[in-house]
Amino acid sequence: MNVQGKPYRTIWLKKDDHYTVMIIDQRKLPHQFVVEEITSLQQMEVAIKDMHLRGAGLIGAAAAYGMYLATLEINDFSNSNAILTAAAERLKNTRPTAVNLAWAVDQQLDALKQGISIEELQTIARNKAIVIADEDAANCKKIGEHGLTLIEEISRRKNGATVNILTHCNAGWLAFVDHGTATSPIYTAFEKGIDLHVWVDETRPRNQGASLTAWELNMHGVPHTVIADNVGGHLMQHKMVDLVIVGSDRTTRSGDVANKIGTYLKALAARDNNIPFYVALPMSSFDWEIKDGLQQIEIEERDADEVRFIEGLCEGEIKKVLLTPESTPSKNYGFDVTPARLVTGLITERGICEANEESILKLYPEKR
Ligand code: MRU
Repeated sequence: MNVQGKPYRTIWLKKDDHYTVMIIDQRKLPHQFVVEEITSLQQMEVAIKDMHLRGAGLIGAAAAYGMYLATLEINDFSNSNAILTAAAERLKNTRPTAVNLAWAVDQQLDALKQGISIEELQTIARNKAIVIADEDAANCKKIGEHGLTLIEEISRRKNGATVNILTHCNAGWLAFVDHGTATSPIYTAFEKGIDLHVWVDETRPRNQGASLTAWELNMHGVPHTVIADNVGGHLMQHKMVDLVIVGSDRTTRSGDVANKIGTYLKALAARDNNIPFYVALPMSSFDWEIKDGLQQIEIEERDADEVRFIEGLCEGEIKKVLLTPESTPSKNYGFDVTPARLVTGLITERGICEANEESILKLYPEKR
């Protein structure tokens, strides 16, 4: 996607220096656009854990590049297995909820079994990381094409009047390698000239909606409005939302969806108001091993200071301020699970299906 007219992805290898991985430091957005160089496994681990980059698809691609960086740290082929296993473990432990991360690491481990020298391991891991990133971008693009049909249909029904779409957190191109999932149908519809407007949940505590989704949509000229997290229900009651599209960090084979904390409440409000609630996700966000999202998905708990403090631009400087009494404790659950029964449908790179095992497996018969 474009940043000030220049096309970017969220992760790439530095030109003429294939030992350096480049990322956009998302902690600085929307106020500063900073590109960071990552040259070691340890730096990649920190970048994922401390959310220099984030979002299910992107942390998958970042973990794949992290495994590549780990191969650059092998000095003796006889130790390579131990080094790669330890690297995989370290990367998998950075963030537990988004399944793309473990998926990408396992893809790398599988591919690396073929390597019979250090040089081969490095080539295999580099190529695999590039493939994972390219596939992520291509899948997101297809999600946009399938999701477009939903927006077109609503636009037709409304005789071309503005289609209002609500989204939570950032499942945009910043959360993937390109295009995004929840935003991909929006960008595709916007490029086709459909009149639309996006309600952007601010998404406390880290404000991925207010700072990242709003920044993306702004860069692309898509009409949007940031709202406080509690506003969505009111808008839905007053017919100001036609469609909800969110992303997913992990979806069970039965269609339960783990996504950013607060998603469940939007799904409840959408159901109460008869508003379609769709989840956009690529195949890498399915966890084919589990069926019960509430019981089986590990929910990341993050530093309570993310709730107690808030960060923003103040007189030209990014500053952090305390919101609560100094000694008041706080809890910071990163994700919640929306049960399949509240999900109208899943928008995937293979098409749209219902959120149940039978319908999902029709799109992914190889997972039967
Ligand atoms: O904690 P984050 O920012 O990595 O959370 C991921 C998300 O941005 C959301 O949950 C998103 O809606 C799904 S990931 C594309």
